[in-house]
Amino acid sequence: MKLEIDQRQLVDEIEALATFSDAEAPAVTRVVFSDTDLKARAWIISRCEKAGLAVRQDAIGNIFAHWTGSDPEAPAVGTGSHIDAIPNAGKYDGVVGVLGGLEAIRALQRAGFRPTNSIELVMFATEEPTRFGIGCLGSRLLSGTLSVDAAEKLSDGEGETLDAVRKGAGFDGNLRDVKLSAEYYKAFVELHIEQGPLLERARIPLGIVSRIAAPASFWISLEGAGGHAGGVLMPDRKDALCAASELILEIENAARASGAMDTVATIGVCQVFPGAVNSIPSRVQLTLDIRDTDRMRRDRVMQSIERKAQEISAKRQVSIQFELVNADDPADCAAQVQTALADSCRRHNLKFMEMVSRAYHDSLFVSRIAPTGMLFIPCRNGYSHRPDEFAAPEDIARGVLVLAESMAQLSA
Ligand code: GLV
Ligand code: MN
Ligand code: MN
Repeated sequence: MKLEIDQRQLVDEIEALATFSDAEAPAVTRVVFSDTDLKARAWIISRCEKAGLAVRQDAIGNIFAHWTGSDPEAPAVGTGSHIDAIPNAGKYDGVVGVLGGLEAIRALQRAGFRPTNSIELVMFATEEPTRFGIGCLGSRLLSGTLSVDAAEKLSDGEGETLDAVRKGAGFDGNLRDVKLSAEYYKAFVELHIEQGPLLERARIPLGIVSRIAAPASFWISLEGAGGHAGGVLMPDRKDALCAASELILEIENAARASGAMDTVATIGVCQVFPGAVNSIPSRVQLTLDIRDTDRMRRDRVMQSIERKAQEISAKRQVSIQFELVNADDPADCAAQVQTALADSCRRHNLKFMEMVSRAYHDSLFVSRIAPTGMLFIPCRNGYSHRPDEFAAPEDIARGVLVLAESMAQLSA
């Protein structure tokens, strides 16, 4: 079978999808269930239907585009990623796996391939944590990693519940029907940009992922005492922002001191109350995102952060509370998927390297119910989650070729 990837059409589609954005180009902002996101979904669904795929959507907004195999009852081979984009993001995160997955299916169709197992493209809902504070809601629910009861307690920054938001967007089915059985997928493979610099630095076009790091995230609330910025003398202060500043640097130190490159910690949100020039901050809310490929090491770093927080709290008379949002387990990628990817690379004399994914992905959660693997392509300077994120058309096309061949191997 000779596969031809239509690089031109794929790049045009990536550019077209980027126009569905609430930020000015080249930035892309596409928050789940916003009007823009709903328009982008409708556009993608029409592309999938044009390719002859049968489309269904579930109650959380996962979209499934199905190419029925000659054995329709057999478990499907899945691929896919997400199209929601964090504020001020780029065009490629998630999108390469969705539109690349679609092009992989079209290339197989053009080559006359007839799958035995059905092939299914999935666009997972709300991979990014932007709206509900926790990422991968679609794949968490689909894999049963998140209970429906826990999902129903989620709300967005405006206080609107997940249930109200999804129903308002037209997804009014029962969340209990989202979960798929462990027999649903024979295998799952996600194509994604690396979101780091290693492939580019090594001048290697493809990365086969062996392990996916897992995130833990927390809300941290600090409460001190406010007051007049002129009147309260320095020895009398219980400034919540000063305590938060000290804690942030201790978090950085703790992640650096873990002894492994795979440990990373980020404070991405810092809300200061009351937020006035001449008022001492009385309350601060932080988010902490901490990740590792080794859960025990991540948990040890977490414990050391909590010890430091107690010291800072005692010293500054500012209370510090941690509220756990999620603490996930890392995942190993399945040998059979890694082999299918490596076989395709070897057939085309394409160099690849085995690597870990330090970003999390929907594949982390799909791996709980199906043998799962991931294929990475380089992105310029390793940039991601920023408007100048870029993946070269040839790199994308190479990734799509290997994805398509692997799916063919897994579904034959
Ligand atoms: C996914 O976007 C992540 O934050 O790893
Ligand atoms: Mn992302
Ligand atoms: Mn992504």
